Amino acid sequence: MKVLIVGGGGREHAIAVSMKKSKRVDKLYCVPGNAGIAQIAECEPSIGVMEFDKIVSYAKKIQPDLIFVAPDDPLVGGLVDVLEAEGFRTFGPKKNAAILEGSKAFSKDLMKKYNIPTAAYETFDDADKAIEYLESAQMPIVLKADGLALGKGVLICNTLEEAKAGVKEIMLDKHFGDSGNKMVVEEFMTGREVSVLSYVDGKTIKTMTSAQDHKRALDGDQGLNTGGMGNFSPSPFYTKEVDDFCQKYIYQATVDAMAAEGRPFKGIIFFGLMLTEKGPRVLEYNARFGDPEAQVVLCRQKNDIMDVVDACIDGTLDKIDLQFEDNAAVCVVLASEGYPVSYEKGKVIKGLENFDGKEGYYCFHAGTKEKDGQIVTNGGRVLGVTAVGKDLKDAREKAYEATKWVTFDNKYMRSDIGKAIDEVERN
Ligand code: AMP
Ligand code: GLY
Repeated sequence: MKVLIVGGGGREHAIAVSMKKSKRVDKLYCVPGNAGIAQIAECEPSIGVMEFDKIVSYAKKIQPDLIFVAPDDPLVGGLVDVLEAEGFRTFGPKKNAAILEGSKAFSKDLMKKYNIPTAAYETFDDADKAIEYLESAQMPIVLKADGLALGKGVLICNTLEEAKAGVKEIMLDKHFGDSGNKMVVEEFMTGREVSVLSYVDGKTIKTMTSAQDHKRALDGDQGLNTGGMGNFSPSPFYTKEVDDFCQKYIYQATVDAMAAEGRPFKGIIFFGLMLTEKGPRVLEYNARFGDPEAQVVLCRQKNDIMDVVDACIDGTLDKIDLQFEDNAAVCVVLASEGYPVSYEKGKVIKGLENFDGKEGYYCFHAGTKEKDGQIVTNGGRVLGVTAVGKDLKDAREKAYEATKWVTFDNKYMRSDIGKAIDEVERN
């Protein structure tokens, strides 16, 4: 079969590598893709993920048997509906279900209505009312722009002054654009964060192995928030007890709630969880694979990805025995020095060929492009060096060893990805 992937980052590279392994896939296409994806798929770099008309025209030209929409923006914008209306078999939630990620007010109201454990909250569409509420609220407190904001629309405020400035930033100055027309004010929680991704077919949900992200730019979880500097899977903190709780109160409950609302969800639900003293709580939902969660989870999946994708579309996920290898994976992001603030692009990347034929090692491209026959840096996050090992320690050692195989000017990485693992070992 022929498959078209929509997207062009490390996540889409990981999806493409998984599909390439499938015996059922003959040819891969990707829009816009990147220099890494281009090694295994035919890419069309001139088409952006929000250019729905161009994507439809391209699909009509190549006639794929399946289209996989990976990023949040086109999912929330309704690309799946557009492609299905044109007769294409498409993987991903429709617009009315992708709202689970597209509106924090929607997802919080859903959790409240269906008793799914999450932080207490209030929603505001008026800045004065929000400030009035904050004046008697307990600090710290969390402010969230309602809509998509590249993962940046969340402000944790320690004082009333900070909270007032946050309301101004989100609702008045519209720092995150129209995402800030509405705002959720949420109780501040503490605990360890874990990501659990799942396949969903509208009624059945099958969860994947867990993962844990490192969002801050600097070692020791210091510095600014980023799209993610690396992660690992599984999380040693995601115990059987935690899983039992989430299976009982969170996962199926979310799928049932969406179906009951007339918004059946087909695709990937990403549960961002916080393991608080009172038990696991939902921090957020995403309607897609995480980036870089896909990089550490998919390389451990035993099932052919196309079998699972088909089952989600056809509503037969209950027939799938979803399995993961009993091993571990670690992904270390190689970024450009200065990310996430300002950084230079266009640096030549050397040594990529060192990954060729090395089983259990992957170099996923995030921000790269081809220029004059060379592969150069083209973003803040450049590569996701990923290794599989027998356990987390082994995978971590291998991943850090492999980070030495590639070089480029202003290469920057954290040196403590997966350090939480040592903490577990010490206890
Ligand atoms: P979100 O995009 O909702 O996942 O929020 C981004 C990050 O903000 C999360 O990964 C948490 O680290 C933090 N965060 C979000 N909500 C809360 C909360 N209620 N309490 C504490 N931290 C939070
Ligand atoms: N790694 C977090 C995300 O993809 O949203």
